[in-house]
Amino acid sequence: MFDLKGKTAFVTGASRGIGRSVAVSLAEAGADVALIGRDTAALEETLAGVKAHGRRALALKTDVTSADSIAAAVAQTVKEFGKIDTLVCNAGVQRLKPFLDMQPDDWRSLISTNLEGAIMTMQAVGKGMVEQKSGSIITMSSIYSFVGAPWNSIYCMTKGGLSQLSKALAVEWARYNVRVNAICPGWIETDLTKPYMQDQKTVDAGLRQIPLRRFGKPEDIGPMAVYLASDESSFVTGQAYVIDGGQIAH
Ligand SMILES: NC(=O)c1ccc[n+]([C@@H]2O[C@H](COP(=O)([O-])OP(=O)(O)OC[C@H]3O[C@@H](n4cnc5c(N)ncnc54)[C@H](OP(=O)(O)O)[C@@H]3O)[C@@H](O)[C@H]2O)c1
Repeated sequence: MFDLKGKTAFVTGASRGIGRSVAVSLAEAGADVALIGRDTAALEETLAGVKAHGRRALALKTDVTSADSIAAAVAQTVKEFGKIDTLVCNAGVQRLKPFLDMQPDDWRSLISTNLEGAIMTMQAVGKGMVEQKSGSIITMSSIYSFVGAPWNSIYCMTKGGLSQLSKALAVEWARYNVRVNAICPGWIETDLTKPYMQDQKTVDAGLRQIPLRRFGKPEDIGPMAVYLASDESSFVTGQAYVIDGGQIAH
């Protein structure tokens, strides 16, 4: 079960954190992987992790806020691997600020990466999936597409949009056998959540909100991505899978 041999995955934000772990998990299950991000040195580290599982990998310096940059990465992946079966739209940024302090630069960065970046990547990769009449798209949304959080208003807005985009596209592209699902992590320990970790009171309050009493690790997300990329999930589309230690269950 969950055998991804012969499949190619295209993972954005693969240079670190959740994206790196997802890329390596997909490779462990047998997929060849195109690794997308801006930090070339960090992408090379992920590349080594993929190759350690005997899979082929491409590290492609790409900015998801540029349609041209995404198009070049997609073209290179298809040239190298022939097709793309799985897209993981994971690249994302966060800006922690009270709403009244948010500046245009802040919300433009959040919207252009978390939303427009995903839209453009889904268009660029999805076109081939529609033509080949198969594919699995996985978006990295958040529990903040369901609940709000202080200092996170615009981030929450982008994740709400991303979850809804995933659901709508699942309905639109079901006729082409292209499935679209969202993964909605809770608090996962990565560079993105480092600012929260600086303050012990915030850490303690965060843990009190999580029934399983621990923060997530990037490795908690990979298995769900493997399932959604695999043929075992061929009847699953339009869903949002929460992985949060029970945080929003109460
Ligand atoms: N950590 C959490 O608690 C948590 C919870 C819910 C959802 N998420 C979501 O999970 C995803 C990954 O987050 P993370 O925690 O792993 O964060 P992270 O460690 O900060 O990694 C973010 C990734 O996004 C990439 N990225 C950012 N802007 C990019 C751009 N313009 N072009 C290409 N790549 C870009 C970064 O690559 P480069 O710097 O190399 O470009 C990096 O690989 C994000 O969408 C985030 O919103 C995280």
